[in-house]
Amino acid sequence: MTPKYSARLHMHPEGPNFSKLSAGLWRLNEWNFSLKDMIHFIETAIELGITTFDHADIYGDYGNESIFGEALNNRSDLRDKIELVSKCGICLISENRPAHSIQHYNTTAAHIRASVEQTLKNLQIDYLDLLLIHRPDPLMNATEMADIFMDLISEQKIKYAGVSNFTVSQFSMLQSKMDVPLITNQVECSLLHLDPIYNGTFDQAQELNFSPMIWSPFAGGRIFNEWHDERIVNIRKVCDDISKKYEASTDQILLAWLLKLPCNPQPVLGSGKTERLRSAVESLSLEIERQDWYRLLEASTGHPVP
Ligand SMILES: NC(=O)c1ccc[n+]([C@@H]2O[C@H](COP(=O)([O-])OP(=O)(O)OC[C@H]3O[C@@H](n4cnc5c(N)ncnc54)[C@H](OP(=O)(O)O)[C@@H]3O)[C@@H](O)[C@H]2O)c1
Repeated sequence: MTPKYSARLHMHPEGPNFSKLSAGLWRLNEWNFSLKDMIHFIETAIELGITTFDHADIYGDYGNESIFGEALNNRSDLRDKIELVSKCGICLISENRPAHSIQHYNTTAAHIRASVEQTLKNLQIDYLDLLLIHRPDPLMNATEMADIFMDLISEQKIKYAGVSNFTVSQFSMLQSKMDVPLITNQVECSLLHLDPIYNGTFDQAQELNFSPMIWSPFAGGRIFNEWHDERIVNIRKVCDDISKKYEASTDQILLAWLLKLPCNPQPVLGSGKTERLRSAVESLSLEIERQDWYRLLEASTGHPVP
């Protein structure tokens, strides 16, 4: 079947083409998927043109990659149709990691290598399309990290490397030690979290020509559910108004708002419901006007731009 949306997103001029929206697997363990459900979810996403899947070693208490991997093992034809992203560097206290006595970060070469090898086993694949360092580590040594990235790329265990939740200076520091570009910084952004628009993260993305990935584009669902919060009520009022004008749903307006950002971001969706994916892809053809974009910004900040 031809994907509903076949246009692709160039993550970087020297990087891969991903889909314009990504499916995030953080909440996978809450979805109670059978193997059949997991395969159906992946197949439906592919049909819709969502081919990028976002994992992390820690998701589902270190278990979600394996649930996905079982589906790939069962349906080996799916691997070549998708791009797999995973992250490492956060060490949780968990029965599955008895050596961790405190929650901490580990960005040593040994830890990154061991994490990637475990992720490949969990996902039952030979390579990751993209490896991200999940969070900046105060003890990170940029040269050591760059070297292990380069080694893993040359061993074909990962195709590309990037980061998540890095500041502009942390990104620049690591990039300065690398021979190849970091192809993304995955950060939180939504109408309830505007930081990367103002802290230089999205400016750096435009400057260096990479597409940032955006996590929690709906603020983890809060934007739909928390009616006691005055800021959310204001956003929803404006959103409802704009929804009528464009004959679009709230989720579509919220995504169109993010997609209008000139850094060409890739929102990472967090739902396991295929109808939500279906609705989200419709936002790719929705262009909201500049003044409507600013109306939503104003609803979020509570004041007009100066
Ligand atoms: N790099 C990082 O540090 C980091 C951190 C957090 C997340 N992530 C990545 O980002 C992905 C997305 O994050 P997220 O799950 O917080 O994203 P999100 O899309 O902001 O939130 C997902 C939640 O919103 C709800 N939702 C979505 N559409 C809805 C709608 N139309 N109406 C009502 N509720 C709706 C979902 O409920 P339903 O299940 O009912 O649809 C789900 O509970 C994660 O899976 C993960 O891959 C990365």
